[in-house]
Amino acid sequence: MTLLQLAGVARSVRLPDGANLDILTDIDLEVEVGDHVSIVGRSGSGKTTLLNILGMLDEPTAGTVTFEGREVRGLSARARDLARGRDIGFVFQQFNLLPGRTALEQVVMPLMYSQGTMFWRRRELAAEMLERVGLAGRLDSKPEKLSGGEQQRVAIARALVRKPRLILADEPTGALDIDTGATVMALLDDVATESGAALITITHDLHVAARARRHYRLDGGVLRPADLELAFAASTLTVDASAEAALGLSVADAPAAPNGEG
Ligand SMILES: Nc1ncnc2c1ncn2[C@@H]1O[C@H](COP(=O)(O)OP(=O)(O)OP(=O)(O)O)[C@@H](O)[C@H]1O
Ligand SMILES: [Mg+2]
Repeated sequence: MTLLQLAGVARSVRLPDGANLDILTDIDLEVEVGDHVSIVGRSGSGKTTLLNILGMLDEPTAGTVTFEGREVRGLSARARDLARGRDIGFVFQQFNLLPGRTALEQVVMPLMYSQGTMFWRRRELAAEMLERVGLAGRLDSKPEKLSGGEQQRVAIARALVRKPRLILADEPTGALDIDTGATVMALLDDVATESGAALITITHDLHVAARARRHYRLDGGVLRPADLELAFAASTLTVDASAEAALGLSVADAPAAPNGEG
């Protein structure tokens, strides 16, 4: 069953000198319920712009976005805000936790806008979610007292506590070391799978991308299916700028080439 569909989506902006800048061009993408999709692209390729459109934070200048069978353009601002709060969870590179609030308060926050049992049981649900991400003992800790990996686990609990149908992650491991990043990513995958949410991860890290079931790359605003095996193969050879450029991927986080032999 299709959850989210983009057809012919483009985004351009008018620059101060009057010229048009095409950031995204003719993007088609279909995401099924429970799907895990990765999108890799180098800096400036349009990843955040695309994520903002997927998350109903921004509108395309052409094409259509359909979420749960409804065209997003047709929704009022209020309907869109409600749908976003209920159905979409965001995980960001810099965690975006509120300073001075405890882990429990951070995760309760999205439930303040829910109704019925979800609202009345909000503290219990938030505590359960924090337990699920391994932070049962840290409910009262503020972000300042948590490590980067722990802060991202709070952010994951916050993104998932309302049981969204879609999770959008923008460089979720970008601020973490490799091992912590791998642990956090495995957790994000697991909790998304458990709750039946679709997960779209935007990253420049091939190892993070490889966790998804379907892979795309974004290159100069154009989205294409990506062959990650090819990209990994290239990254274990002597790092060759032309191979990297041909793939349109960053291999910066791939394992170091064994003494340039290949
Ligand atoms: N409102 C805007 N006005 C002008 N240019 C913009 C605007 N928004 C984005 N751009 C440009 O569009 C391109 C894509 O931006 P975007 O932020 O989507 O890239 P990105 O892939 O997320 O990069 P990064 O990996 O560095 O975060 C960049 O060249 C950026 O400067
Ligand atoms: Mg970005």
